[in-house]
Amino acid sequence: MDVTDFELLTEDTVSDHVFDIAVNRAPSPQVDLGFVSRRDGEITVQIKVPEAAGAAAGHEKKKRRGKSGSARASSKTTTVAAAADETEKYKTLEVNVIQSMSLLNSNTESSTTGAMLWRVSVVFTEWFYKHIYLPQPGSLLPGRFDVVELGCGAAGLLPITLGSSPKVRQYVATDQPHIVKLARQNVETHYTETTGSMPSNVHVVDYDWEHCNEDIVNIIDKIPVAEGDEEEDNNTGLLILACDVVYNDFLIPYILEGMNKVCETHPSKKISILVAQQVRDPTIMEEFLTQFVEHPSFKVWSVPEHLLNEEFKRGFVLHYAEYQGVKA
Ligand SMILES: C[S@@+](CC[C@H](N)C(=O)[O-])C[C@H]1O[C@@H](n2cnc3c(N)ncnc32)[C@H](O)[C@@H]1O
Repeated sequence: MDVTDFELLTEDTVSDHVFDIAVNRAPSPQVDLGFVSRRDGEITVQIKVPEAAGAAAGHEKKKRRGKSGSARASSKTTTVAAAADETEKYKTLEVNVIQSMSLLNSNTESSTTGAMLWRVSVVFTEWFYKHIYLPQPGSLLPGRFDVVELGCGAAGLLPITLGSSPKVRQYVATDQPHIVKLARQNVETHYTETTGSMPSNVHVVDYDWEHCNEDIVNIIDKIPVAEGDEEEDNNTGLLILACDVVYNDFLIPYILEGMNKVCETHPSKKISILVAQQVRDPTIMEEFLTQFVEHPSFKVWSVPEHLLNEEFKRGFVLHYAEYQGVKA
């Protein structure tokens, strides 16, 4: 990623940066916590993408859903449909996913926010598509990359929408086991119904940041460390994505360690990290960014507004980081 006009964050600038976000980028007071829909069960998400995207991403193929009589069977013919918007050269992808209000309200699991789909994932997906299909000078996402997503949530929206992008070699979506179960189901159902089978490069696996040392094997298996003389291996960067995973103080050191562990196990790759957040509590954002910039492994920038979609600028922020290796 070309970071020349990004704002590099340091311990000295984080506080002003967060103040600026709170003042200029806060969502309108009517905005709720950030759910896409409070409705339980199957929801349809609309994603605006450049016209060129659908066919290349393999989402245009239409197939009847589910087995006749099953809960997900319906007369709809597709989980992703494209409706062209000629004027803007964009179209809308519609993605059906299952979310679970009962899991959200369950008190048997430690973290249940992933049971629902959060709006920042939709905003981020649109941003990602735009930067892949309508690249600007100093492309934000050059080359091809492997992706590890942290805290993908039960909807699995990103592995569904980005997993089959031609830019992505392997896509490994991760979350805690009780969330992964539903995420895997959503991802498998989507691909089976749209393309006939689950792509071999998309994986949904357990990776709990609080147990990252043990769980990291689930990722290593899917993204081999670049070594030896396989040319593509050495040229494929690693991109770590995280949408709306920073929402309490307790989790901050764990998420950073979760990221760091993924990086440490793939040191020979160029590693970039994108963290997308809804603007909420400035104290938590400041604490997260402070720990992020203080972490010896990472260099952190704020992605400037001119590189964000309009939607992104209204209540969301995007931070970019690069893995520096551990400094002595
Ligand atoms: C607000 S949800 C966002 C989910 C999804 N990225 C989205 O935007 O819809 C936060 C996610 O972080 C995950 N998470 C929380 N604690 C975690 C941990 N210790 N290890 C791994 N994932 C965790 C949750 O399970 C949940 O999926």
